[in-house]
Amino acid sequence: MKAAILPALNSPLEVRNDVSLGDLGAGDVHVKIVSSGVCHSDVSAQNGTIPCGFPCVLGHEGAGIVQEIGDGVTGVQAGDHVILSFVPACQRCGPCLRGQSYLCARSMAVATAPHFVIDGNPVNGFTGLGTFAEELIITEDCLVKVTDDIPLDIVSLIGCGVTTGVGAAINTAQVSPGSSVVVFGCGGVGISAIQGARIAGAAEILAVDTVESKLEQAKHFGATHVCTPDALDQLKAEITAGEGFDYALECIGNPTTIRATFDAARRGGTAVVVGVGRLDENIQFNAFELFYTDKNLRGSMYGSSNVRTFMPKLLRLWKAGKLDLESMISQRIQLEEINDAFQAMQDGKVIRSVIDFS
Ligand code: APR
Ligand code: ZN
Repeated sequence: MKAAILPALNSPLEVRNDVSLGDLGAGDVHVKIVSSGVCHSDVSAQNGTIPCGFPCVLGHEGAGIVQEIGDGVTGVQAGDHVILSFVPACQRCGPCLRGQSYLCARSMAVATAPHFVIDGNPVNGFTGLGTFAEELIITEDCLVKVTDDIPLDIVSLIGCGVTTGVGAAINTAQVSPGSSVVVFGCGGVGISAIQGARIAGAAEILAVDTVESKLEQAKHFGATHVCTPDALDQLKAEITAGEGFDYALECIGNPTTIRATFDAARRGGTAVVVGVGRLDENIQFNAFELFYTDKNLRGSMYGSSNVRTFMPKLLRLWKAGKLDLESMISQRIQLEEINDAFQAMQDGKVIRSVIDFS
């Protein structure tokens, strides 16, 4: 079968036709991928921001159809439509039992278990998935069943960006009605955070991006105000009387904008780091300000979402016309166009490219 492989750090992806699957183990499911979104985290694997082994089949935002189930699988059967969750929800470990399945203790084991075979060697999928492949094998803990009346390109977006962004606003920040919100970065994740803030009833939503066309798009998804980073202080003064925002969400993964996000939140407000930065980049806080500003500084893994309950809710919001997923798909592409899609994302030209495998 066909799959896009990252052969080495900073290397273009290679689309190969000779990739095969390993054995279907107990608890595993064989899934045919129908759609996969292209997320910035895939680019982050390529450039080393997010560590992964090489070679690696990239892609972690996908949806597909179950082909075959391994021994002991009870949650899905052949023919089921599924979202692929890039974090398992085993429901047995400490974090899952505490109601934090997005921190599932099996994550690393799943991420490092190879299910592809290339040139006779076992090869990993990114985060354990590898949705830039026509088919994959994954534990049933990573599958969320959906009804088959929803187009799978729409469903695929839920696999990462939408759950991450909407979840960051609703679950992590817990944006409250009538509040003020600033979102840094208007890619798939940031646009989703804007939609999450709108759904939660924020009164003002300021979208910040360096790319003007992204700002125009942000308005469509619910931003009430938009600006480039140089105008942030002026907008903060206008919207919050200089106090700062109730909630500030960083959806880029850059130390400078993470620091700016913390600064944009008001005293007692909440700053959420959604973007994934590099292990070797740091952010400075002085020893006085963390105490004095009394801010909540939160990380947000997968939008602090329990995928089994939150993903179905997102699809209900979509069905109710409250979450716009169609407009987030900037272009539909074939797997062979994957390197161009990576470039388009880095050039700020797309919200999401979606690979069509059907
Ligand atoms: N200031 C403002 N906006 C910026 C800046 C900056 N310094 N740098 C980049 N941006 C904007 C880009 O113009 C783009 O619109 O941030 C947006 C990032 O969007 P995408 O590249 O589409 O990334 P996305 O898939 O949304 O992911 C964002 O979340 O899950 C993580 O790993 C992912 O760190 C990444 C982040
Ligand atoms: Zn992602």
